[in-house]
Amino acid sequence: MELCIKHTLSKYAKRLHKVVRRLVPNCDVRFLLSESGSGKGAAMVTAVAYRLASQRKQIDEILASFKLSKENLREVKTKMRAELEYGLKKETQPNATVKMLPTYVCGTPDGTEKGKFLSLDLGGTNFRVLLVKIRSGRRKSVRMYNKIFAIPLEIMQGTGEELFDHIVQCIADFLEYMGIKGARLPLGFTFSFPCRQASIDKGTLVGWTKGFKATDCEGEDVVDMLREAIKRRNEFDLDIVAVVNDTVGTMMTCGYEDPNCEIGLIAGTGSNVCYMEDMKNIEVVEGNEGKMCINTEWGGFGDNGCIDNIRTKYDKEVDEGSLNPGKQRYEKMTSGMYLGEIVRQILIDLTKHGLLFRGQISETLRTRGIFETKFLSQIESDRLALLQVRRILQQLGLDSTCDDSIIVKEVCGAVSRRAAQLCGAGLAAVVEKKRENRGVEHLKITVGVDGTLYKLHPHFSRILREMVKELAPQCDVTFMLSEDGSGKGAALITAVAKRLHSIGEN
Ligand code: BGC
Repeated sequence: MELCIKHTLSKYAKRLHKVVRRLVPNCDVRFLLSESGSGKGAAMVTAVAYRLASQRKQIDEILASFKLSKENLREVKTKMRAELEYGLKKETQPNATVKMLPTYVCGTPDGTEKGKFLSLDLGGTNFRVLLVKIRSGRRKSVRMYNKIFAIPLEIMQGTGEELFDHIVQCIADFLEYMGIKGARLPLGFTFSFPCRQASIDKGTLVGWTKGFKATDCEGEDVVDMLREAIKRRNEFDLDIVAVVNDTVGTMMTCGYEDPNCEIGLIAGTGSNVCYMEDMKNIEVVEGNEGKMCINTEWGGFGDNGCIDNIRTKYDKEVDEGSLNPGKQRYEKMTSGMYLGEIVRQILIDLTKHGLLFRGQISETLRTRGIFETKFLSQIESDRLALLQVRRILQQLGLDSTCDDSIIVKEVCGAVSRRAAQLCGAGLAAVVEKKRENRGVEHLKITVGVDGTLYKLHPHFSRILREMVKELAPQCDVTFMLSEDGSGKGAALITAVAKRLHSIGEN
């Protein structure tokens, strides 16, 4: 930045230099000498400098509320660790916010699985149907064919019957398209919402998350709802073998390649983790032998207020404006569905204070959901010049100056950085628990990961990994990207379940 001042460097001007440098240490301000300035000019300059400094101060204050200290993060890890325990214990489980749901998935694939399977994947904005062909033996492989179907908002938020009829309509289209309508294939249903399971093919929806709110589904068995919708259509039959959370599918898919993979992480539209827990620690399920995969549903962490000390007023606004206020508080600070909304709330506040967009709150800025994760990822990309950031903002209908674009980028950075740190602190608690379970000094473990935030954001994955390393120094964690965990994983779990079932029958 350049400021013009009168050429005699009076004592006043020297003081002005000092004041400006002290107040805005991050800005490299050069003073240009003016031939025709006056005392009035210097006063104006001082006023401008003070205004800039005070604006900067206000922006810094807002962003400071997103900066977490080492102490804050250690505390998050410790609290998450405690909540994992509450969810596993019979006594504390009913009120636990981290639900720790047993999945009845007790083993990873051993390579002998084979056959043709159907997979359904419901949990994001799209619904997918897949045909998965698994080959065993030396030439073991998984081949997949899939079709993506959009789920219109009115269906996501309509009645349960409408939602499941739509799903079955999509399945019919797919079977027709693949020419396999008559084949009664075993099916794995990836349903990425909290489900209380009593067996691998039964799952009662605890509550919708993310953008879903179809009526008459909560408290109902989603497999029954699917079977009923198939019956209503009366066109084909399916053998529904397993209902699977996306974290579990991700862990299984990576476990197929690396037997050390005992944790599945999703950092995408939603946020969640599953891991293999020793049966003796799962009080709500009979039996002490072996392991079972637990779907933690850690998105609900903090719903009892235990992380309120680090929630900002923007987090509260996003929560209040969401479909499920008071619920999934940790998810709302860490996942793609909400990060853009947090950014939007901050931008509105900055604009109200005259610090952005010339103080004008446009209609666009008032629109909920305009900031999708993909924009956050683009804006934060190091390869993107500021002019391109302005173009993105323009695409979003936000007319920005160069200074505005710098501020928007800073806001996005603060919000996504905090998300990655929080997610890392949570994961540190899970790997530490695994280490303690095994009773070892040092644990080597693989985490299977999926989700757009982890895969596409330019900094999220690095910050998350750094955090885990820092907070769980005794664990050597390898992160393995899952290729289509939801589709492949459900098929693998179905294959394992089928294999075990046939062993049981013989
Ligand atoms: C759901 C989880 C899911 C996660 C990631 C959350 O909103 O509650 O079941 O695993 O999103 O898709």
